[in-house]
Amino acid sequence: MKFFVDTASLEQITEARDLGILDGVTTNPSLMAKEGIVGQENILAHYVKICELVDGDVSAEVISTDYEGIVKEGEHLAQLAPNIVVKVPMIEAGIKAISHFSRNGIRTNCTLVFSAGQAILAAKAGATYLSPFIGRVDDITWPGMQLIADIAEIYAIQGFETEILAASVRNALHIVDAAKNGADVVTCPLSAMLGLLKHPLTDIGLAKFLADHKKANG
Ligand code: G3P
Repeated sequence: MKFFVDTASLEQITEARDLGILDGVTTNPSLMAKEGIVGQENILAHYVKICELVDGDVSAEVISTDYEGIVKEGEHLAQLAPNIVVKVPMIEAGIKAISHFSRNGIRTNCTLVFSAGQAILAAKAGATYLSPFIGRVDDITWPGMQLIADIAEIYAIQGFETEILAASVRNALHIVDAAKNGADVVTCPLSAMLGLLKHPLTDIGLAKFLADHKKANG
């Protein structure tokens, strides 16, 4: 399973990259705004900086919602760096644009996916990645992880090559469950990634090893 960090923060991307386990980055307009990156020029320049930091795929999201606009914006984003993946919303014009991009060698991440039916459409259109939003499904008291399991089952039966990128992943348990349920990629905040490290028995065990060493060696 691949690990992507879900942030536009250069500091967090660098910290995640330096762990040696990072496979890519996802961003969205909310995450860019959160970092204070505003204005088209600044946003494009920020994507270039992120692409220089990591070797893996970097999802850059379009703002347009009409077909021509998505295609124009996506083609521009794709030219910024070879590791850009154009992130396109799950709307009718988005599916049409993903199909266009797929025929023209531009890789895509279909975002804002909340149902298995949407996942089938995106795969048929040739999306490289599919982003089901687990946390937001949980927020409305539906089982978000079941969505990952359903899509994984359908993609396996049908032989779809689109990679399932579990998104809106908010904690370490989400990561473990996404792995169990067949996600190809998990994108999450750095805090969730670091949450995987934590276990009280590790802390207790390490303290004992160090204390025993000190007792024996002075
Ligand atoms: O990857 C999508 C993600 O950024 C959305 O997460 O926590 O806002 O639902 P969240």
